[in-house]
Amino acid sequence: MLDGRRILLIISGGIAAYKSLDLIRRLRERGAEVRCILTAGGAQFVTPLAVSTLAGGRVFQEIFSLTDEAEIGHITLARDCDLVVVAPATANLLAKMAGGLADDLASTALLATDRPILMAPAMNVRMWTHPATQANLATLAARGVRRVGPNAGPLAEGESGMGRMAEVPEILEAVTAALGGGRLAGRRVLVTSGPTIEPIDPVRFIANRSSGKQGHAIAAALAALGAEVTLISGPVHLADPPGCRVVRVETAAEMLAAAQAALPAEVAVCAAAVADWRVENYAAAKRKKEPGAPPPVISLAANPDILATLSAAGPQRPRLAVGFAAETENVVEHAAAKRVRKGCDWIVANDVSPGSGTFGGESNTVHLLTAEGTEDWPHLPKAEVARRLADRIAAALETAR
Ligand code: CTP
Repeated sequence: MLDGRRILLIISGGIAAYKSLDLIRRLRERGAEVRCILTAGGAQFVTPLAVSTLAGGRVFQEIFSLTDEAEIGHITLARDCDLVVVAPATANLLAKMAGGLADDLASTALLATDRPILMAPAMNVRMWTHPATQANLATLAARGVRRVGPNAGPLAEGESGMGRMAEVPEILEAVTAALGGGRLAGRRVLVTSGPTIEPIDPVRFIANRSSGKQGHAIAAALAALGAEVTLISGPVHLADPPGCRVVRVETAAEMLAAAQAALPAEVAVCAAAVADWRVENYAAAKRKKEPGAPPPVISLAANPDILATLSAAGPQRPRLAVGFAAETENVVEHAAAKRVRKGCDWIVANDVSPGSGTFGGESNTVHLLTAEGTEDWPHLPKAEVARRLADRIAAALETAR
């Protein structure tokens, strides 16, 4: 499926470089031609011999190498490909890319290329969350640089968190999508994620415990398959997932309006924890404590149900409407009733009872309920739940074609 496609793979210095050896092999298995640049840092983790053996050609390392320049100039090297893949992309290399530095062959090639770039960042969690790295990512995203990962999980230094390089199958999907061949290429998808917040007055609001991690991971997984994803997100502390158009909202009413504006879409995945009620007697000025006065009474009004509204949207209805069910008991029964009540096609049911670790955690145990029945999925990282769901969505659309 990558027959004849030419990839320039840049391997920079991180322990994840070992995965890039497998990436070379898998790319070539799929018919791609792979040329490799190995940075000095990268060569601390994998040997030039291993890279060149797997790539079936020489590995490029030095910018001022007469041999390299005689064989292929560094500008040609940067452009004589269909896609540049940077895996692993270290924090340092991201900073160089964002800043336009060109002090070695890898950064020079990245500055000189006119080809699309896909990066697979890998770094320590603190380096990933550092405002400098986040600013660099935003700069690169605005320039159209594609990204896959990183994922959350155990890191090399014994820490845990965001920063693990995407796994090879994910990078392969992202490469395919970047070359316009993803399974969901050209499909419009909308995803809701995160909580909604409902203001009480200008300084106070009602919120819930949703982190947005599962919804954001689903948006990223769908985008990695080539879908045109609109992610409608309530307030979260997460980086924008790669390859998605992100619409930020606060209230359920805003989320509904954004979802309707994102139609037509072939698929809607409603993963947001939408507040069921909004404050009916919102105070336009801050509610003040008056000495001796009783606490204010907050009255609530029902919010619109976004999933149910989209599932009943007539000719605008997405072909596949997927909801979530957050339950604390009788998970599958409640979810089955919810699927019928909301008129959606699938429900992903999960246990959010205290102790399940679902809210804010990195993993999830879900059941997929469809008209055909219920599948119990094993306990999985949220990114893996997202990939499986994206895979199922792609398969469902392919069958319905
Ligand atoms: N949902 C929605 N709009 C709402 C409420 C929920 O789109 N106003 C969607 C959620 O995104 C999710 C599904 O409906 O996909 C189920 O959400 P959940 O909170 O589990 O169910 P509720 O409808 O709130 O039902 P209950 O409170 O009875 O469990």
